[in-house]
Amino acid sequence: METAIIVLAAGMGKRMDSDLPKVLHEVAGAPIVMHVLRTIKNLLPQKVVIVTGHGATEVENKVSQFEPEVTFAKQKIQKGTGHAVSCAKSDLKDFKGNTLIVYGDVPFITSDTYAEILTMKEKNTDMVVLSFNSEEPNNYGRLIVDNGNLTRIVEAKDASIDELKIKLCNSGVICVDNELLFDLLNKITNKNASEEYYLTDIVELACSQNYSIKTVMCEESETLGINTRLELSHAEKVFQEKTRELVVKNGVTLIQPETIYFSFDTEIGRDVYIGPNVVFGLGVTIESGVKILPFCHLEGCHVSHGSQVGPFARLRPGTELNENVRIGNFVELKNSIISQGSKVNHLSYIGDTSIGEHSNIGAGTVTCNYDGVNKHHTKIGDEVFLGSNTLLVAPITVGNQAMTATGTIVTKDIPSGDLTIGRVKQENKTGYANKLLKRLKSKKKRKDP
Ligand code: UD1
Ligand code: CA
Repeated sequence: METAIIVLAAGMGKRMDSDLPKVLHEVAGAPIVMHVLRTIKNLLPQKVVIVTGHGATEVENKVSQFEPEVTFAKQKIQKGTGHAVSCAKSDLKDFKGNTLIVYGDVPFITSDTYAEILTMKEKNTDMVVLSFNSEEPNNYGRLIVDNGNLTRIVEAKDASIDELKIKLCNSGVICVDNELLFDLLNKITNKNASEEYYLTDIVELACSQNYSIKTVMCEESETLGINTRLELSHAEKVFQEKTRELVVKNGVTLIQPETIYFSFDTEIGRDVYIGPNVVFGLGVTIESGVKILPFCHLEGCHVSHGSQVGPFARLRPGTELNENVRIGNFVELKNSIISQGSKVNHLSYIGDTSIGEHSNIGAGTVTCNYDGVNKHHTKIGDEVFLGSNTLLVAPITVGNQAMTATGTIVTKDIPSGDLTIGRVKQENKTGYANKLLKRLKSKKKRKDP
């Protein structure tokens, strides 16, 4: 059967104490809601509706940048989870199939768990609730089970002392036949401790009408929701720990894993070595057999097989290293392609540049790519040798197998095979150092006897 997914993301997130809508706070460099959207994408849903409310415009703008396919439904006033789901009604009125309701602020439920819910739903069941056991169930809704059947969910605020002892909790995720969902939602009321329309009330209604309801269990850690900044930093920690574990399982060596930070979308191949204190910003892909030495910061870049980066290197967006490239200490690269076998080993800034194969860029080389208004391109050919402290004033082209002398300021293109020397000519004045010193000393004595 077809699947529609409703993502609840209208909540105000009061406890975040923030101007930013809660679901836009970031874990591993991506808004919390993007983690949810990435996971549910694996289920290949026919339709995704995101219910927005608090900070709706901001949320919608951000999400549509990455996911142009989703639909948004507005919940102007937050009157509870049941009311939030009913806001998606007009978007799903013609949909026939299963509707899965998920939370935009619960980022770690896996696609395997969601898939298990859908599989269970296909087995002649009308409704499936995702639940978990908790030793400290606090504010979670509790599942009331009678004779092995789920009959009702009671919110903590409305629960009796005995009900509060129940450890089987509601994750909030429910899968239900679309038509039945909106049928039941028409009947819920807000007569409860919070005066809200609870989505959870559809369970008791369905039970009383003899619909079959099943549960799927998951680990409590998966259902971790983010309500406070403390929970946000905990979520970051959880993400990093999980990712480090996964990366290592896939054949990557991490030296001091707890000092290595990954982003939401970092991709790393086999047999990669990563030294301590390395940070991967968004959009980094690393091929197999790469070595990243300590204290590197990478963002929006691609590193090909056999290359080595660092220590202390910064790869900024648009950087592409082809195979067997060497980038050494205190080198910054931005929007540049370095072709195979080339080396930028010490103290350089290379921006808006392409470097050919097997070229050697001397220590302290700087591409002067910005004139204060525009950025300009530098093109360096194959087997070029740039002497230390070469300044390339872009736009500039250096031909294949060209060389520059140390300290050259390149302001004109260099044809292939040429040697360029562009520096003040050196003059040695014989014995002049001693003379100068004497003169300066006697001058000082006269002034300051
Ligand atoms: C809800 C469940 C509870 C469950 C818990 C799991 C209900 C009534 N209760 O409680 O059984 O154990 O989640 O975390 O469903 N939202 C809206 N609009 C609203 C209200 C909420 O979009 O009017 C969204 C929130 O942004 C959030 C989600 O729905 O993503 C859950 O809302 P929240 O207020 O956190 O529900 P809980 O009280 O935690
Ligand atoms: Ca919550």
